[in-house]
Order: sequence, then C-alpha cells, then structure tokens
Amino acid sequence: MPLHQLRAGIIGTGFIGPVHIEALKRLGVQVTAICGSTKSAHAMAEQWGIPEVYGDYDVEAMYASPNIDVVHITSPNKVHVDQSLMALKAGKHVICEKPLGMTTDETAKVVAAVKKKSSPVFAVNYMCRFFPAILQMRAMVQRGDLGQIIHVQGHFFQDWLLHETDYNWRVMAAEGGKLRAVGDIGTHWIDAVSFVLGARAESVFAHIETFHKTRLRPKGEVQTFAKIDPKKMVPYKVDTEDFGSVLLKFGKSKHGYANGVHASAAISQVAAGWKCSLYFGIYGTKGSVQWELQQPNEITYGRRDEPNMILQRNTAGFTEDVKGFTDYPGGHPEGFSDAHKMHYRAVYEHIASGKKSPALFATAEDGHHEVKLCEAVLKSSKAKSWIKV
Ligand SMILES: NC(=O)c1ccc[n+]([C@@H]2O[C@H](COP(=O)([O-])OP(=O)(O)OC[C@H]3O[C@@H](n4cnc5c(N)ncnc54)[C@H](O)[C@@H]3O)[C@@H](O)[C@H]2O)c1
Repeated sequence: MPLHQLRAGIIGTGFIGPVHIEALKRLGVQVTAICGSTKSAHAMAEQWGIPEVYGDYDVEAMYASPNIDVVHITSPNKVHVDQSLMALKAGKHVICEKPLGMTTDETAKVVAAVKKKSSPVFAVNYMCRFFPAILQMRAMVQRGDLGQIIHVQGHFFQDWLLHETDYNWRVMAAEGGKLRAVGDIGTHWIDAVSFVLGARAESVFAHIETFHKTRLRPKGEVQTFAKIDPKKMVPYKVDTEDFGSVLLKFGKSKHGYANGVHASAAISQVAAGWKCSLYFGIYGTKGSVQWELQQPNEITYGRRDEPNMILQRNTAGFTEDVKGFTDYPGGHPEGFSDAHKMHYRAVYEHIASGKKSPALFATAEDGHHEVKLCEAVLKSSKAKSWIKV
C-alpha cells in the first residue's frame, strides 16, 4: 500500500502538532482530522486544509471516524497514556509524543496493549533516531569501525526556561511528570545514544537540581515558547528540576562492540546560549564520532594515528546505511523537521508493509524504558547512589 493511502488524525495544536502535520504533508500522507481546543482546532484545520475538526479535546469522537488510520498524539504528557489506550482500542495505529507517560505504572498498560496479537503499530516520537547522522553513527558502531566502545559523553542543553518568568506546563510535575529537564529532553539524549550503541541503559547515578525554586506564571495556559508580559504573572512553587548530571551504565549489544559502556550526560533547560543542543561523543578503541543536533549534517570522525575527518550527509562520508532516510543532496541542509519526516516515513512504511519493514523507531517498550529510567534518576538523586533500572 503506498503511503499516501494512509490517513492521519492529529491531536494537539501547540508547538509540535503542526510539525507533525507539515512532515506528513511533505510525505504525501493525507491529514484528514484534527482534535484540540475548539478554537485552535478550527483555526489549524483552516490553515492546513484539514477536513474533519474535533473541538473540546474530544478524542473519542475523532477515534470514531472511519477516515483515520494513524493517530498522532501531540497533547501534553499527562494525557498520552489514556489517549494511546483509547486509540489502540479503536484499532488505530499510533505515533505518540515522548515521554510515553508520567509513570511506569501507566506506561506498562500501553506495553501490555501493544503486545496483543492483532495490535496496531505503536511508535513513540523519539525522532532523533532518524537524523541521517545518527543512523550513520549507529552503522559505524555496529560494523566495528570504532572498535570496542569505551565510553560516551555529552549533553542536552536549552535556555528557554532560564528566567523565572519563563513558563510552560512542563514546569509543574502534575502536568508534565516529576522529572522535567531529564524527562523532557534528557530522554531524547538517552534514547539516541541507546539507539546508536544498540544497548539499553541498565543503571544510573544522578544528581538533579532546581535553580528557580519559585517562578512566575501567567494566569492561563500558554503555548510552548510563547512570550508573556511579566506584569500579568503570579508566583508559584517549582517541583521539577532545571538541570541534572546523569551517569549511565549500558548493557550488552547484540553486535558485540558495546558491552557495559559507561556514559555521562549533563542536561539543562537553563544553559544560556544553548537553544537545542543535543551533543554526544562515542569513544572506541579504533576511533570516535561526535555529533551535535544544531549542526546535524556533519559527524566528526576522530582517530588517534591518522587525521580526523568531517563526514558530511549525502557525500562519500555517509554510507549506504542512511539510504532512504535522507532526501536532499549534500550541501543542502536537512534538520529537525526532516528527522520528523524520516521517522513518520519509517512508521508509515512499517504499517503499509504489514509490519515487514524494519521497526527502527522507538516502540512502546522503548518509551516505557525511558520512563523507568526517569524514575531511577529521581531515586538515585535522592539516595545519592547507583540505581538499577
Ligand atoms: N519529539 C519532539 O521533538 C518534541 C518536541 C516538542 C514537544 N514534544 C512533546 O509533544 C507534546 C506537546 O508539546 P508542545 O510543546 O507541543 O506543547 P504545547 O503546550 O505547545 O501544545 C500542546 C497542545 O495540546 C493541547 N491539549 C491540551 N490538553 C489536551 C487534551 N486533553 N487533548 C488534546 N489536546 C490537548 C493544547 O491545547 C495544545 O494545543 C509533549 O508531550 C512534548 O513532550 C516533542
């Protein structure tokens, strides 16, 4: 079945909802329905030419539509699990935004639902896996180009929550989950590194801190990255972390080049100057690779006894491994929105092929593991000790 015969319904009209819509339109997938607040769902339907509109956050009404095959859940974290379970029950395939849920008690329910024999396809939107550079580094690790992997080091830094007046629902544990910086962006880092290594993090040692113990917020809800007049704000207590340091011990990979790798990551949403910097270096006995999301088209390939190299996307530096995950020639940059596009292409191809194409995307099990890691990070920071995941 060609991709353009599959039809998508989108839940959520904030920052990331339109990123999904744009990527789907670029793939030729039909976006047939949208669900959100009545006002914004209608506005977005008009802007993007979406025929079915479901206001009042009425996801059940949208799920009853016979004109939707795949549901994209881009609502806030606290409703992901309920909306996922309802979608699966209605027989819809799902791409759910990360994190999969707020606690492992609830994300375990999604894992159980997906395990059922005739379950639709379920993906969690850890789309960083689909930057061609990430796929290239993964292939290099799996082939043994870097030798035995020794350690990994990196960060995910942003500065959009630096000021006490910066507000988003993520700041409140009841809305976004008990871990904010680590849960929101740290899990992207861990998922990307796990994907490249082909191994899961098995234990953690973490320290997290809240710099702004009290912040100021607007009286109503606002869209992510919105700017608000500080005079119209009220103080509130912050119960999530602004930054953290996490040590991770990874398990064994099937390919044998990553066994018990040690990793360290610094995560912050109050790092002035960094907008969306997911960076890591993977260091092996034969060489290393370094990559940064803000310069996504290049990998630095480091070697001890030969000159270092810059590998560029869609030139001789990138191999066959990324074929099908990049569309434009070298020198024509691809970035954040392209990684979303490549992710959705992979998921839709998996659906269209009757689950025969490789499932490189993050599954419900992967999403559940990330929430498990968040719980372990919280426990470790309190206990000041290593915690098994
Ligand atoms: N994968 C990525 O790169 C990425 C990037 C940003 C956000 N996200 C994830 O996407 C989700 C949304 O984040 P955002 O930044 O777009 O937030 P946002 O606040 O900008 O948008 C959230 C949207 O959901 C709507 N909404 C609220 N309650 C709802 C409900 N019960 N049902 C349906 N819709 C509801 C809001 O009206 C709003 O339109 C979060 O889970 C976040 O972690 C992922």
